[in-house]
Amino acid sequence: MVHKKARSSKKKTTAKKVVKKAPTPARTVAPVAEPVTAVQPTEPAVVETPTAAKPAAPAAPKTRTSTRKTTSTRKKPASAAKKPAPVVEETAPVVEEVAPVVEETTPVVEEVAPVAEEAAPVVEEPAPVVEEAAPVAEEPAPVVEEAAPVVEEPAPVVEEAAPVAEEPAPVVEEAAPVVEEAAPAEEEPAPVKEETAPSVEEDVSPVVEEVKPMYEMSNLPRRSIAFIGSECHPFVKTGGLGDVMYALPRQLVKLNCDVRVILPRYACIPQKFQEKMEYRGAFYMDLGNTGRNYYVGIMEYVCDGVVYDFIDNQEFFSTGNPYTNLVDDIPKYCFFSKAALAALNYLNWIPDIVHCHDWQAGLVPVYLRTLFKDSPVGHARSILTIHNLRFQGIYNIPTIKYWSGLPNEVFQMGALKDGYQDANMLKGGIAYADRVTTVSGTYAGEIQTAEYGEHLEGHLRYHSGKLRGIVNGIDYDMWNPATDPALAEHYDLGNVLDHKMANKLALQKELGLEQDEGKFVIGLISRLTNQKGLDLVSSIIPMVLDGNTQVVVLGTGDREYEDTFRYYESAHRGTFCACIQYDEARAHRIYAGADALLVPSRFEPCGLTQLNAMHYGTLPIVRETGGLKDTVEPYNTFTGDGNGFTFDRYDAGLLLDAINRAKSLYFDNRYHWDEIVQRDMAKDVSWEKSARQYKDLYLELTPW
Ligand code: ADP
Ligand code: GLC
Repeated sequence: MVHKKARSSKKKTTAKKVVKKAPTPARTVAPVAEPVTAVQPTEPAVVETPTAAKPAAPAAPKTRTSTRKTTSTRKKPASAAKKPAPVVEETAPVVEEVAPVVEETTPVVEEVAPVAEEAAPVVEEPAPVVEEAAPVAEEPAPVVEEAAPVVEEPAPVVEEAAPVAEEPAPVVEEAAPVVEEAAPAEEEPAPVKEETAPSVEEDVSPVVEEVKPMYEMSNLPRRSIAFIGSECHPFVKTGGLGDVMYALPRQLVKLNCDVRVILPRYACIPQKFQEKMEYRGAFYMDLGNTGRNYYVGIMEYVCDGVVYDFIDNQEFFSTGNPYTNLVDDIPKYCFFSKAALAALNYLNWIPDIVHCHDWQAGLVPVYLRTLFKDSPVGHARSILTIHNLRFQGIYNIPTIKYWSGLPNEVFQMGALKDGYQDANMLKGGIAYADRVTTVSGTYAGEIQTAEYGEHLEGHLRYHSGKLRGIVNGIDYDMWNPATDPALAEHYDLGNVLDHKMANKLALQKELGLEQDEGKFVIGLISRLTNQKGLDLVSSIIPMVLDGNTQVVVLGTGDREYEDTFRYYESAHRGTFCACIQYDEARAHRIYAGADALLVPSRFEPCGLTQLNAMHYGTLPIVRETGGLKDTVEPYNTFTGDGNGFTFDRYDAGLLLDAINRAKSLYFDNRYHWDEIVQRDMAKDVSWEKSARQYKDLYLELTPW
């Protein structure tokens, strides 16, 4: 797909202040091909901030080191709560200033006019109180209205912070001065704006339009969608969220959607992508009660019809990993959520739908109906997809108020407030989004129960009218055993029985396992966390290793699991292999070389590894929960139907039993085993059906 005239990128490249680049990708990425669009070297974040890093915010006790992925879990160190409060109050006054960004781009609004009227509906959903859990008052609706006034207040602030604001067109130019101020440290910023200023305006709409021709054939109504999330393959991925953020937009483009994916420009994004990004513009944005204006650069990369806009700000995104700890992540994602919406206004690209993902983008729907309510993007409808309810972005109210700058009204029980003194970013997003989806039908039901609700079951039941479950798929280009560059030998449905074995032998060799076609090889590819049922696995390994079975574990995560698997490797060399690493290519080889793949999760919103496995002719052994239940039909000994082996209760004995049933079939009835291999490869686990469901949801929200 095309793309704007390759801006004379190289020019602004001048940005020599190339901040410490992002060498190592947080977690390696995939071998996916990169169509690439001509782009230019990045424009090193013109870190404006004259001040020191991270303005004093309500001190956040670093205590809560969150493990990778989504840092925020519920429990937080008590200490965290206390300190912040005072600070907040001090800065309180600043609060009113916030919203500027919104107004800035106002002019753009006119274009989007049609969408406008809809904004109102948002209010519909929440009725008064409702929440069982909290007899208090739970009505997001009122919040919205109340928030309104707040929005207006900002006006004055706008002027201060922003010159950027008031005049859309000039925005760029206005930003200029700011840049210069901030830039002193690195003289180049100035030139950057000059060059880009003009181009920004040109690029803005063109990007999208150029893509259109490709899909003129489609009879489907066209809709524009802005995906906002914290990771996306192949730029940065720690788990399935990265896969979905990559695959779903690509499929939506085929369904006549204009899709822009907005991501943080982490320093850990591989240099090869950083180099292909093109500078689209920059502006300054105030943030919460910090009293500062933050640089927001927009770097763009277009691939296969999907436009990726990276929000650039080195102060927030220069760490090596997307997630570090809540102390840093809360400010980071408050900034990101607000900057993403401000960037849409700035680009004058107002989507029909803003589709945000997980707690890191949880504030987006809240911003949309408060500080951005009267700005162009405020007319968009919003969808929040929950990929994993365990991570919610919870911190004390003062801290989140300080960084988000959201009006007091949203910090009530019906929205962000959680417990006595906490604010929960995901909870707020659920309250304010027009629709909430999660990644499988079963999980959508489960999270409304105490067992899986992570304390939000009441809130989710209250909002169940707008909750949907849409199961994930996998990208058939990225996951294709017939073309996968990582494999020892390619195969497809027609010749899997002849060629899969070569991959097993190659895998055994690669991992130092005994090379033996007759051995039953079980793979496990996973983040090593409590979610994934690893305590069950570790307790039965000795019984699984019966002399005819080999086990391969690929993953990183909690030390206790890493050490346990390392121990098993040393105790069973040649039959047990612990690859404590993140290695995308090796994952592909395990999917192809193993006979079965284990996914005994305690809970699993959807799960992609079982889908990858089936598509590679590797039979899944899963617990019947969430998306695992929805995607793996248990093998029926009598009818021969099914896709894999399952067990229901979270019980090591039942897992062992499921593994033994798989072994029995493999060793005693290979003919039937092979039938399932072929059936699994033929099964449709692509994004096609699910992407249509998302498209239907978009149309439901934008029925014109
Ligand atoms: P989650 O998102 O909960 O981690 P999913 O099953 O949805 O689980 O997605 C996991 C994704 O991450 C899959 O694409 C899987 O192949 C990949 N993955 C997980 N761990 C590793 C690893 N150690 N090395 C390579 N890929 C991994
Ligand atoms: C989360 C879930 C996983 C799901 C993925 C993508 O990480 O744990 O089950 O497949 O998101 O939606």
